[in-house]
Amino acid sequence: MNPATTTAPIPKLSIGPGVIAIDGPAASGKSTVGFAVAGLLNYLFFDTGAMYRVVTWAALDQSADLGDADAVGQLAETIEISILPVGDAQDGRHLTVLVDGRDVTWAVRSPEVDQNVSTVAAMPRVRAALSQHQRLIGSQYAHGHAGMDGIVMVGRDIGTVVLPDAPLKIYLDAPVTERAQRRFLELQKRGKSTTFEQVLADMQARDRIDSQRAIAPLRAADDALIISTAGLGVQEIVARIVALATNQPFNQ
Ligand code: DC
Repeated sequence: MNPATTTAPIPKLSIGPGVIAIDGPAASGKSTVGFAVAGLLNYLFFDTGAMYRVVTWAALDQSADLGDADAVGQLAETIEISILPVGDAQDGRHLTVLVDGRDVTWAVRSPEVDQNVSTVAAMPRVRAALSQHQRLIGSQYAHGHAGMDGIVMVGRDIGTVVLPDAPLKIYLDAPVTERAQRRFLELQKRGKSTTFEQVLADMQARDRIDSQRAIAPLRAADDALIISTAGLGVQEIVARIVALATNQPFNQ
């Protein structure tokens, strides 16, 4: 072997580890925190939940039978999903989601999608298709791509299954009542009429399906840093992750 190629890689202290995996249950703060961390590091923010939502939205849109896992799996294998940076949009989004060129960023966040997405996300064929796509994006951005220095990928199984070699893994968590309260306020802000009790019941049902499914259930990777977000401000969590990513001391 050429000795010149055996030297250890130089750590990218200034721009971080290239890949940051953030997992956790619904409304644990993954999206808000991941988006802010990505902005500070000039990383692409990639929310994998949006992909499961797209497949669910498309199945509902086509009146497909959600009990037919093969039909939904085939849809996941063939649909053209693009997850893009926000661009010029100023409507509070953290990413732009296109399906065959159509902007479905908000359509995939409807209560109907919310109620069905966990079932779709438990289908093995759907998971195989979307995980493969996510892995490709992860390796594409890991060393910088399209003007970005890396990627922050958020979901439920990023640190455990999709990118198990990610150098920095974070697992965000908070009690279900606090997460339901956050989601309830968010829905109210978007003018959706619902009750806290309904949001709490939906969230408990989703937690159950996401963490008990046979394939890639929600759990923290053994080497993930677990952060409980209850009572912590977004700024503090973001500062902590950026400090870890850039090997800077964290004094807050
Ligand atoms: O994070 P979210 O609420 O947008 O996720 C939507 C659904 O997709 C949720 O039921 C969990 C599932 N999901 C998953 O199974 N694996 C991922 N990597 C991301 C989301």
